[in-house]
Amino acid sequence: MYVLGVWDGHDSGAALIEDNKILFAANEERYTKRKLEIQFPYNAINAALSYAGIKPADIHDIAFSTTEFAKTVSRVFPFQMEKYYKLRRRKLSNSGFEGLMYRTRGFQYRLKYAENLVGVLPLGNMLSKAVVARHLRHLGFRNFKLHVVNHHAAHAASAAFASGFKKALVVTVDGYGDGLCSTISLLNKGKLERKHEIKARDSVGILYEQVTNLVGMRELEDEGKVMAMADYSFPFAFEKNKLKDFIAVNGIDMSAKYGPVAQYGKLEAISWSTPREQLAYFAQQLLENTLTKYIGNAIERFGIHDIAFAGGVFSNVKANMEVRNMKSVRNWFVFPHMGDGGIALGSAMYANYALNGVSSYDFKNVYFGNSYSDNEIKTVLKTEKHIEFERDSNKGSHAADLIASDNYVFWFQDRMEYGPRALGNRSIIAKADSEHVKDRLNLYVKQREWYQPFAPSVLKEDARKLFDSVKGYDSFMTMAYKVKEDKASEMKSVMHVDMTARPHIVSDQNSGYRDVLERIRKKQGYGIVLNTSFNIHGMPIVLSPEDAINTMKATRTKYMFLGNFYVENKNA
Ligand SMILES: [Fe+2]
Repeated sequence: MYVLGVWDGHDSGAALIEDNKILFAANEERYTKRKLEIQFPYNAINAALSYAGIKPADIHDIAFSTTEFAKTVSRVFPFQMEKYYKLRRRKLSNSGFEGLMYRTRGFQYRLKYAENLVGVLPLGNMLSKAVVARHLRHLGFRNFKLHVVNHHAAHAASAAFASGFKKALVVTVDGYGDGLCSTISLLNKGKLERKHEIKARDSVGILYEQVTNLVGMRELEDEGKVMAMADYSFPFAFEKNKLKDFIAVNGIDMSAKYGPVAQYGKLEAISWSTPREQLAYFAQQLLENTLTKYIGNAIERFGIHDIAFAGGVFSNVKANMEVRNMKSVRNWFVFPHMGDGGIALGSAMYANYALNGVSSYDFKNVYFGNSYSDNEIKTVLKTEKHIEFERDSNKGSHAADLIASDNYVFWFQDRMEYGPRALGNRSIIAKADSEHVKDRLNLYVKQREWYQPFAPSVLKEDARKLFDSVKGYDSFMTMAYKVKEDKASEMKSVMHVDMTARPHIVSDQNSGYRDVLERIRKKQGYGIVLNTSFNIHGMPIVLSPEDAINTMKATRTKYMFLGNFYVENKNA
């Protein structure tokens, strides 16, 4: 039994499940090369079918999510969605009518947030279904049933059914979706039951988005930068936080003092007289306080200490750390593709649960994307003039040698990761203790903001030696940890200014990548490297060997491990 999941919003994508196995999942941006693509995921759906070796006629159940008023309007009038995408990503020219709208973005945002308060209307369901079915028929799907999954049900299903927990509290928190910004559900004996929900109006996620916009960044994309920037502010006690009254937590209720439209105005006024690091600090501190209180109260109310999370707000690894460090939390799981990019898989999981009762998946890794055979890779390599390559049966040790002598290397193998993080299959790796190589990597390839830290991959057996309070292990880079004080020098290039890091803890999910770490360990004492996603600044993570080679050429990078080949750029 196949279930196809489709998400046609921000960071669109597709996922394919067969019985209780996740066969494939990927986001459209990797194919169209537009970061956080919003167009219908034609390419991702085709890639899923091709991976499984099936035809549209083999699929009878298709799930999609979110039929709120604003989303329905964008489905029916896709040019609106395209315009907002370009406006948000600062791709619109600053002239004419569009320029005027850009300059009066306060108005735009007020309109956008007002729209989203409408929530789901019965007509929205019908219209959304009609538009999505039309796209699917265009792809060749015929006798299928289309299942509408509630936005937060999709988030909750992804967290609950991937967590491995038998019984857990499942919490979703995001900007908004289908008129809600948060839900609390219980997972028990294969049943997922929603116990509580909070209206979009009271969203702490929207507040964080608005602050992101007001410090001059792109909402729905640069929230991680706001989080990183916050640590460059003078620290304030919460009583002095100018936003402290904006969100209140009462038991398991959250409420915003102002509606999002008025709130944007209030925040804008504060932003005029507040340095941006400080505004970022206020937003981050408010988020941490709100989440710990809200989740702490939920744990107390339901008496369940294992918690699973999804929703874009849980991409905030510092807030996640505060939640993890609460005494009442026993085990935790953050769904690795926590934002709306994970809705395709979440929708498929929810539909598979509702239709077939499947409520648990083997979820040891997220290598759900495309892969390429050595023959395919070789065919591409052969067409390149200034690139030399050879088969490398010892690539782990070879990569470790290059890394130890202060080079960064491109590392491409097996199936692409699902989600925002590179986890050793589409990664750029370098020494974890060299600021010199970090600066070079930043200059030539990544061009990150000066305050944005890189993150490490670390062997599971070394994680406890390098970080405080490692509870269980986190294979998906969803959590920040305090670096042990005497180990800071081992991690100069992968640590944030507040001495935290967001490690990818490597157990036995990836033998090729693990091999590199083990060899680094032999050379340097700890199995740790800098691991950043394999992409040029502003581009999605690479999908194919062609993308990898193009990135190598564009950045004049010398060393790459591509499948089982060692590749060297003669124009480096
Ligand atoms: Fe969401």
